[in-house]
Amino acid sequence: MDKMKKEILFSRKAIDLRVRELAAGISRDYQGRELIVIGVLKGAFIFMADLIRSMTIPCRVDFARLASYGAGSVSNGKVILTKDIETSIRGKDILIVEDIVDTGVTLSYFVEWLQERNPRSLRVCAFLDKRGRRKVTFEADYVGFAIEDGFVVGYGLDFDEKARFLPDVYIMKD
Ligand code: PRP
Repeated sequence: MDKMKKEILFSRKAIDLRVRELAAGISRDYQGRELIVIGVLKGAFIFMADLIRSMTIPCRVDFARLASYGAGSVSNGKVILTKDIETSIRGKDILIVEDIVDTGVTLSYFVEWLQERNPRSLRVCAFLDKRGRRKVTFEADYVGFAIEDGFVVGYGLDFDEKARFLPDVYIMKD
């Protein structure tokens, strides 16, 4: 990893600014409501921690973990939930927080899974959105940055479980 070429795509300063903007919008939209924020592990943990601390409204938190299967890094549409949430969401306002939407397969599955539990509302906030890579129709309600195809790491995103800790987002070169 350290020897692989990479360059900064979003600096920690740019990330901080954008996260504050997202948090302000979410705080306005959910003013006076009881919000439950659900992070999708592992990638979302850093973004979610920053996002909820920038929000000016209270929230509860929970986490889920999903795994998708396919050749290499490309999902074939089979998703399983390996860790479910532990909160009852019936009648509650829910915000799913993800690090990245790629093919859209993971979030489509998770949204459908949660909708079956009849939340009052359900929205998705994704830090990064690779719109050009969709295999299924999926639109996040809040997006940090839309990006082109490319392998990105840092700020929660990994390369073979490495690089999640990096405070900036990098794009891998070659
Ligand atoms: C990543 C990301 C999303 C999913 C997006 O998770 O966090 O959950 O892939 O891909 P999709 O839109 O093509 O379904 P990953 O499986 O890499 O796990 P991680 O969060 O633990 O890194």
